[in-house]
Amino acid sequence: MTNKPIIIAIDGPAAAGKGTLARRLAEHFDLAYLDTGLLYRAVGMNVVRQGGDPEDTEGAENAAKALKTVDLEAADLREDAAADAASRVSAIPGVRAQLLEFQRKFAENPPDGKKGAVLDGRDIGTVVCPNAKAKLFVTASVEIRAKRRFKELRDKGLAAIHGRVLADMKERDARDSDRTVSPLEPAKDAYQLDTSDLDADQAFAAALGFINSANN
Ligand code: DC
Repeated sequence: MTNKPIIIAIDGPAAAGKGTLARRLAEHFDLAYLDTGLLYRAVGMNVVRQGGDPEDTEGAENAAKALKTVDLEAADLREDAAADAASRVSAIPGVRAQLLEFQRKFAENPPDGKKGAVLDGRDIGTVVCPNAKAKLFVTASVEIRAKRRFKELRDKGLAAIHGRVLADMKERDARDSDRTVSPLEPAKDAYQLDTSDLDADQAFAAALGFINSANN
């Protein structure tokens, strides 16, 4: 009998707290971790760096085909320009198809001999790993998410205007939710975790409670 890897799928909009939660869960269960947003960010920035338009299908598909693991280490992938480019390339079906393979391989053959993986993104529970052992959909109100993002930027010493951060967040939410391929939506069997009034420890405790009950 082959041991199937244990997959935990975490989806949700930007700044809902899914990255922090996913990393903690991976550590707790000793699983590999993949931030799938980084793949889209790297593709988007590779297009932008070559002077291309992230909404140009051919350029974005070529960038997705040419993506290398080392591209995921680029220093600027956390910046807002990368988030914006990622959100645009991610609406292109050929880009998604290309990255799907990378994500599934990671989930099926987790690195470093790990017995499974935690993946976070927008369509992990619905498309990438529909058979995941546990699925979580992490949300928070857009105002709270914008506030968190604003604080994060200010803490890094970057100039930010709250109204602008909120408007950008709303725009990105709409683009991620309204696209025709793999839009942001909870899987039917996902546990919905609203972190609006929770800190990181409380969100982790709630997620752990769900995962442990799902495993019984
Ligand atoms: O999670 P993030 O903010 O790093 O994601 C950046 C963008 O990438 C997001 O706006 C939508 C896209 N994305 C996606 O379409 N599917 C994923 N699984 C992960 C990210």
